[in-house]
Amino acid sequence: MIQASQVVKMAGGQQAPVLGGCSLELGGSGLTAVVGPSGAGKTSLLYCLSGLDRPDQGYVGINGTDIYSLSDEKRTRFLRDNVSFVFQQYNLIGYLTVEENVRLPHALARKRVDSSAVEDVLSRFGLWEKRAARVSTLSGGEQQRAALCRAILMRPSVIFADEPTGALDTANTDIVLRVLRDLADQGCSVVMVTHDVESAALADRIVFMRDGVIAQTTGRLSVDQILHTMARLGGGLHA
Ligand SMILES: Nc1ncnc2c1ncn2[C@@H]1O[C@H](COP(=O)(O)OP(=O)(O)O)[C@@H](O)[C@H]1O
Ligand SMILES: [Mg+2]
Repeated sequence: MIQASQVVKMAGGQQAPVLGGCSLELGGSGLTAVVGPSGAGKTSLLYCLSGLDRPDQGYVGINGTDIYSLSDEKRTRFLRDNVSFVFQQYNLIGYLTVEENVRLPHALARKRVDSSAVEDVLSRFGLWEKRAARVSTLSGGEQQRAALCRAILMRPSVIFADEPTGALDTANTDIVLRVLRDLADQGCSVVMVTHDVESAALADRIVFMRDGVIAQTTGRLSVDQILHTMARLGGGLHA
């Protein structure tokens, strides 16, 4: 459950806010796609919703907790227990191995993780053979699969993903989308920024952004309906 009310984010030196009062309510589980032209504020919204960047005004609640009212320490702990973030550029640590990267959030939280759980998740993503390889030696697709392993292993109730397939080939794009779709079906709330209409058509809900505001929120739409809505709102998917 993610709630946002009148979220405003200003940017240094600019007149127009990056986010000009965004409100939304994503109840329960499911896959939400955030779409809109480049510069519309998709990344900024995701950062504010996920606790990575404090808005200048407004409320963000995750599972009923007002995350920005918490102390930094409490927020860090809350987010660690509830939220994972998947970045377009993976955000893995290049000189660590695949397994070390995947175990890192648990290590930082001083939590135990079952070795069989690590093996399960790495095997599922075809990375068990690569577990001892340094991440810097992997392909982009392998790195994003490792980033997903790391995110899933924490068993978050909410996953944010900012253009998680933006740098991937079609085979890896299909894997990543299938995983995010499966997680949503298993009860996770997944919020994904995408510029790909086919990906957005897999979502249960679509948030259309434009000029720092949410222009429209819909349920599931077909590729044609998404294109039609984008055309009506103006700006295209990736202007
Ligand atoms: N830290 C920042 N300082 C100044 N401008 C920013 C900053 N972050 C984002 N912006 C601006 O805010 C707008 C929205 O950016 P962003 O959220 O990255 O959009 P999107 O992800 O939809 O492409 C853009 O015009 C961008 O240039
Ligand atoms: Mg972005």
